[in-house]
Amino acid sequence: VSTSTVVVHPSRQSLADAAAARLVVALVDAVSARGVAHVSMTGGSMGSEIVRSLAAEPARAAVDWSRVHVWWGDERYLPAGDPDRNDTQNDEAGLSSLGLDPATVHRVPGPDASASAEEAAEAYAATLRSSGGGSFDVMVLGVGPDGHIASLFPHHPAAGTAGAVTVAVHDSPKPPPDRVSLTRECLERSREVWFLVAGADKADAVRRGVEGSPFEETPAAHVHGEERTLWLLDPDAASELG
Ligand code: 6PG
Repeated sequence: VSTSTVVVHPSRQSLADAAAARLVVALVDAVSARGVAHVSMTGGSMGSEIVRSLAAEPARAAVDWSRVHVWWGDERYLPAGDPDRNDTQNDEAGLSSLGLDPATVHRVPGPDASASAEEAAEAYAATLRSSGGGSFDVMVLGVGPDGHIASLFPHHPAAGTAGAVTVAVHDSPKPPPDRVSLTRECLERSREVWFLVAGADKADAVRRGVEGSPFEETPAAHVHGEERTLWLLDPDAASELG
């Protein structure tokens, strides 16, 4: 388990651009070393910002996208193409223009393709097992103002799931109520875990995440990459760090 490193960028935009540049290097290195790269993406505004940077030059041309597997740390249990799904938001930000092989863009099934969030979680776990996921090069995570990551919410029973790589989440404190999430142990099967956080409303969650607070209160404080854990922040998100 790695210790956390904090990097404060001068602005939200430079944070997104620098994270995209880091991701380009990580993907190029992974493809060069292993012939394939696995990245798990996030929704939220930072998820869209980083995709927008990846879809612009020079990032776009620097990566052989046909060798990249894309996953999501969580997904809202909504039909394919729903504007509130993380993958739809990433697509709209430019993910679908990168030249990825659709067979290696691993989307969580929605209610249009599964009977329940449980079934969707099982199907995603099976895809993880069969496609080499569950050994991610980079796990990109946003952090909620409450300290949640993926769909692991503070004090929510699903957050503590052990012995599984995915979990169906119901009664999420943030809409929509039904979701599918990677579990803490799955998130940690990553060489690198990156938290991308901007905004003053996240400052308290960032402080708790970096300084450490119990898992039940701040899931973000307890997810680490095998080699590196990075908190990539803008000045507002970093404003409560000592
Ligand atoms: C959700 C959100 C959430 C989001 C974080 C960070 O769970 O519904 O998508 O997980 O990723 O709250 O959001 P920002 O990147 O917009 O700050």
